[in-house]
Amino acid sequence: MRMPLWYGGDYNPEQWPEEVWAEDVALMRRAGVTLVTVGVFSWSRLEPAEGRYTFGWLDRVLDLLAGGGIGVDLAVPTASPPPWFSLEHPDALTVTRDGVRLTHGSRDTYCVSAPAYREASLRITRALAERYRDHRAPVMWHVHNEYGTPCHCDHAAAAFRAWLRRRYGGLDALNDAWTTAFWGQRYSDWAQITPPRATQYLPNPAQALDFRRFVSDEMLAHFAEQRDLLRELTPGVPVTTNYVLAGWACVDHWKWSREVDLVSVDDYPSGRGMAAAEQTAFAADLARSWAGGRPWLLMEQATGYVLGPRASPKEPGEIARHSLQHVARGSQGAMFFQWRASRGGAEQWHPGMVPHAGPDSRVFREVCALGEALGRIPAPVDGPLIGPPVVEAEVAILWDEEAWWAVQGPGLPSAEIDYLAAAQQAHRVLWRQGVAVCFAHPSHDLPPYRAVLVPSLYLISDEAARNLAAYVEGGGTLVVSFFSGIADEHTRIRPGGYPGALREVLGIRVEEFRPLAEPVELPELGPSTVWSEVVHLDGAEAVARYPGGGPAVTRHRVGAGTAWYVSTRLDDSGYARVLAQAGPAGSGTPGVEVVRQRDRVFAINHTEDEQPVPVDGTDLITGRPVDGSLGPGGYVVVPVQTRPAVDPRRFRDLPNHR
Ligand code: GLA
Repeated sequence: MRMPLWYGGDYNPEQWPEEVWAEDVALMRRAGVTLVTVGVFSWSRLEPAEGRYTFGWLDRVLDLLAGGGIGVDLAVPTASPPPWFSLEHPDALTVTRDGVRLTHGSRDTYCVSAPAYREASLRITRALAERYRDHRAPVMWHVHNEYGTPCHCDHAAAAFRAWLRRRYGGLDALNDAWTTAFWGQRYSDWAQITPPRATQYLPNPAQALDFRRFVSDEMLAHFAEQRDLLRELTPGVPVTTNYVLAGWACVDHWKWSREVDLVSVDDYPSGRGMAAAEQTAFAADLARSWAGGRPWLLMEQATGYVLGPRASPKEPGEIARHSLQHVARGSQGAMFFQWRASRGGAEQWHPGMVPHAGPDSRVFREVCALGEALGRIPAPVDGPLIGPPVVEAEVAILWDEEAWWAVQGPGLPSAEIDYLAAAQQAHRVLWRQGVAVCFAHPSHDLPPYRAVLVPSLYLISDEAARNLAAYVEGGGTLVVSFFSGIADEHTRIRPGGYPGALREVLGIRVEEFRPLAEPVELPELGPSTVWSEVVHLDGAEAVARYPGGGPAVTRHRVGAGTAWYVSTRLDDSGYARVLAQAGPAGSGTPGVEVVRQRDRVFAINHTEDEQPVPVDGTDLITGRPVDGSLGPGGYVVVPVQTRPAVDPRRFRDLPNHR
């Protein structure tokens, strides 16, 4: 039997008098809510003093929700330790790189390496699990919230050293990897090593990168402790934690996604209108790819736009369209932050499913309509956590947080190299053409996609470089953007000409980088910005040239495949023209999104005009026939006959091997 999709949001009832709770549940039922996340920031309310618990209010909330048939994603509230905890354990408060010890009064102020915090986390986790293991409301555990607080204190320093010992074994290997011979940084004792705290001038880039790896691993260890305890006390209840998306990459998502029972993501686009739709598709494809064929969930989004200089409401229909973009890509539902907009507190202006205006509002009517629509779409699996639908992907974009962190490191030749922007551009250009995309780690086994795109992947391991070369030799099309393959995993430049690790497969040798202050016009490809290079051909041919005559875009046939190199930043139309020549172009209508799952197709019209869509059948949401066109802002979900597999490896999300 197919389950309904999950629909709901963060529910923080402790900020409201109890009279409101019954109305909340009635409104949730009206809106078709099936799941709410409860207690994310409730630690101080649940444990007002060490070891003293006040569960009565939460008992009543869970009983009310269960009575309303609403499932609970029960949170472990470790993201916001209570003030009493911080006062008793000041050593567990975050220390910034400048040595400032933060204080309580906000949230996320902790050090994951502090023993007192680790101990207190397990204590509240155990108390919650023991209290609610037999309650019928909880269907899922939600550990913490958007892990992402690095700390530079002495506890963090000790844990960092232990992590480095495991990574390098001995100090000689560390000194070599970090190139400490430069600027007299050689370490002769582990005790000399600290997190990258404030320094007089540039810090060591390899140390900075290792610290980011360490922070990701250390937070993962904290998550895993809670997860293991929850698995022991409540076997069978899935455990998740919500990743923060957008430009803030605090964790290695490939690694983390193997550790969670359910990948869940928070998605807040910074753009508006079509840009928001593009960013939403990008976020959903990332989540789907991290899940690697396993279930995932859009855990948070907002009914309005919250990023950028001013908050603004989503336009009519956008709440539903953004939600469906995620569901189309396999999300098990659509969740929001938060159920009811707060009266006070730091996020009192954050939009909710029930806005300040109350249920008599456009937003709440749209929330109800979305609940009704989702209620008509069966979840993509035959059980809550069996696996998402097969989404067909034709092109892979390489995604690697380590490479992103490296490019955010100190002392690079241009401050304008932006890995995220490069990945988003690759995705956006293909999205506009209707080409289905997934993300892959550079060392993933790459099935025969139509193309693999490499966005400014500064750092690349030997293993990954071999992987990409094998993909091309086997018949693949690789499109590499500038500033890729330059450094090894320790941020050391690969000598002999750029782009070191990819020189051979690309058939070029780059002698010099020439970052651009002003745009340069490339014949046929339009403006080139940010970056240019002195490229020598070494087997490749020039497809486009700089005004001075040097190769700007090159093509190299290798084995049965082709490797392309784009040595500058092109605008979207220039990049699209390169992709059209390289192969992975599509014929979709910009703004009309068609996502095919194994046995149904989602079509979403993000434009303001009626548009043709290659879909016929009966819409699951309205029960009306779809005859090949969609009205402005319209969307449909149409069951289709399961088509015979073309190539079972090609049309499948990559398993997350990492
Ligand atoms: C994140 C957090 C939420 C809330 C929202 C606001 O996703 O998880 O608690 O702060 O941002 O957009």
